[in-house]
Amino acid sequence: MTDTASTTKLSIVGAGSVGSSLAYASLIRGSANTVALYDLNTEKVDAEVLDLAHGSQYTQASQIIGGSDISCVAGSDIVVITAGARQKPGQSRLDLAGTNVDILGSLMPQLLEQAPNAIYMLVTNPCDVLTTAALKISGLPTHRVLSSGTVLDTSRLRWLVGNKIGISPRSVHAMMVGEHGDTEFALWSSATIGQSPLQDWKDSAGNRVFDREVLDSLEHEVMNSAYKVIQGKGATNYAIGVAGARVVEAILRDQKAVLPVSTLLNNYHGISDIALSVPSIVGRGGVERTLNFPMDDIEEAKLHKSAEALLSVQKSLGI
Ligand code: 2OP
Repeated sequence: MTDTASTTKLSIVGAGSVGSSLAYASLIRGSANTVALYDLNTEKVDAEVLDLAHGSQYTQASQIIGGSDISCVAGSDIVVITAGARQKPGQSRLDLAGTNVDILGSLMPQLLEQAPNAIYMLVTNPCDVLTTAALKISGLPTHRVLSSGTVLDTSRLRWLVGNKIGISPRSVHAMMVGEHGDTEFALWSSATIGQSPLQDWKDSAGNRVFDREVLDSLEHEVMNSAYKVIQGKGATNYAIGVAGARVVEAILRDQKAVLPVSTLLNNYHGISDIALSVPSIVGRGGVERTLNFPMDDIEEAKLHKSAEALLSVQKSLGI
């Protein structure tokens, strides 16, 4: 059994590699009691649901349902949107904005009809722009529409840092924030390994490990991660699947977890009307609060650069 209330229903829109991996991760982790997978492609979604259901004996106390009838998402507590065009090798996430905002425009009203009380989480890229668009389309309160944002990039960062110094990623307390895309950045100034400031970390010979060059190269590697995976296998799916399931749990279990989800900002370091990832408290209400982590001058400048990049795309789309 899980510690999830008995009524929790997660619906995933889009049975492509991201949606199916998110369903798989949620079933294995027991993120919700019912997982519904919805897609317009009947043959594909029915096959994915069947394949996932065939593992039921070995997953947690969750059931998988779904199909191409949108009523399968009815009564959801959380709806995760993964449907839309995906990056081709060399394309940026922002290149997908126009197409995916249009898809969202027709999808969102239909979903709201079925699941009027749900929290909505955007995974489709560019997820920050789509979060703002979903809020405008739906008229929902800000806290109920979010994106997985840089939760995935944060896991990539912790894995890279942990590997570099031979420490578990779970003992690395560092976050990627900003756009889930090319202008994202690490909050190095507040990062710690255990309790120790990351930038003071020394190797066994007493040498400082994380100088500016190393920090920049790690940050760049995180930013470049998706490009590298897409180049090799056409898409990223497993890591976003498990990262998405993690956010779902924070919401359905009312965990009040601090996660860098993307949320519409209201005068955050002077930034408003743009969704981007900042450390936030995530619980049953969705994004319950954004947190003002300290930022040094470099981080502050990068935050504003990220906001400007997103603002120019939003403007070009009239959002
Ligand atoms: C990722 O970062 C492509 O946004 C996707 O894996």
